[in-house]
Amino acid sequence: MLNTSYWRLVKLFIIAGVLTFVVTILLNKKAQPKTDLSTPSPLSQELYQVISPETYKYLLNHVSVCKERSPFLVLMVPVAPADGLSRDAIRKTWGRPGLISNVDILTLFYVGLPKEGQSSHIQQDLEKESKEHADIIQMDFLDSYHNLTIKSMMIMDWLATHCQGASYAMKVDSDVFVNVFYLVNKLLVGGGPLRHKYITGSVISDGRPRRDRKSKWHLSEDIYPEDTFPPYVSGAGYVFSIDLANRISWASRFVRPIPLEDVYVGLCLRVLGVRPVYSRTLLPPRNLFEINRLDYETCTYATRVIVTGFKPDELLDIWGDFQKSHLTC
Ligand SMILES: *[C@@H]1O[C@H](CO)[C@@H](O)[C@H](O)[C@H]1NC(C)=O
Repeated sequence: MLNTSYWRLVKLFIIAGVLTFVVTILLNKKAQPKTDLSTPSPLSQELYQVISPETYKYLLNHVSVCKERSPFLVLMVPVAPADGLSRDAIRKTWGRPGLISNVDILTLFYVGLPKEGQSSHIQQDLEKESKEHADIIQMDFLDSYHNLTIKSMMIMDWLATHCQGASYAMKVDSDVFVNVFYLVNKLLVGGGPLRHKYITGSVISDGRPRRDRKSKWHLSEDIYPEDTFPPYVSGAGYVFSIDLANRISWASRFVRPIPLEDVYVGLCLRVLGVRPVYSRTLLPPRNLFEINRLDYETCTYATRVIVTGFKPDELLDIWGDFQKSHLTC
């Protein structure tokens, strides 16, 4: 009697397992972008100039931070020029040099020009901070929400030019909690040999342009005539193999700039025929790049790569406990 119900349970588990497997395959198939075999035509000179690295000048740079070493991972953080509080919190938490003793990780901050101008005190403070920490890179385009696409493309160009010896890079916003331990040990090292043409995060495969003029994400048909977006990884944080930095820079010659940084990267990936990989687990269902705010709980955070929506002091508040006890989960 006990035996038959036991076997029933086993059968149920097997069936559930097979079903999950089939559904995953079907879901992945659906997310597969239609590969466009015809190469799209290059942008006009005028349009390419907006995102061409040749258009802008470095105001602050540290060309050798990546020359004498080959970091396993480079964390690239776009941040507003005046946001020194976020930079300090990151330097003391997930961006701390030497965080994982045997893995070389480099954290760099990427800023544009403050709207107050180059002779403002914000600029002076930034230069002082840059001297002290040697981790701020600045170009002379105006730092604004609409210019984040320019910033991301400059990040790609910087990596391709100055940091080809690295293995992986991550673009991550300054208001994000990053579980570098999980990212390095489980996803990257634990994921097998070094990958190429690899980009992962929270994949959005049913994105559409907002035509509503009042929306923060408004896109006119002139700028983006298609009705849908190709699959892309949410901009809060995404991780990629270093070869993609150069490939994405190249692909940007074919993709008209739009002010949505993450969708833009998705459009470049489509040109390259690279499909972003969703980092999630099915049992239990979990998005490893959490784009909603989750209440802090050590073991919830221990099994995510990122959690979004942090103020600098909140990050500092939880970090001590997280670092102390995440391995006990
Ligand atoms: C983006 O940066 C360029 C170059 O500094 C500037 O001319 C332009 O006004 C900026 N655009 C926005 C929307 O901030």
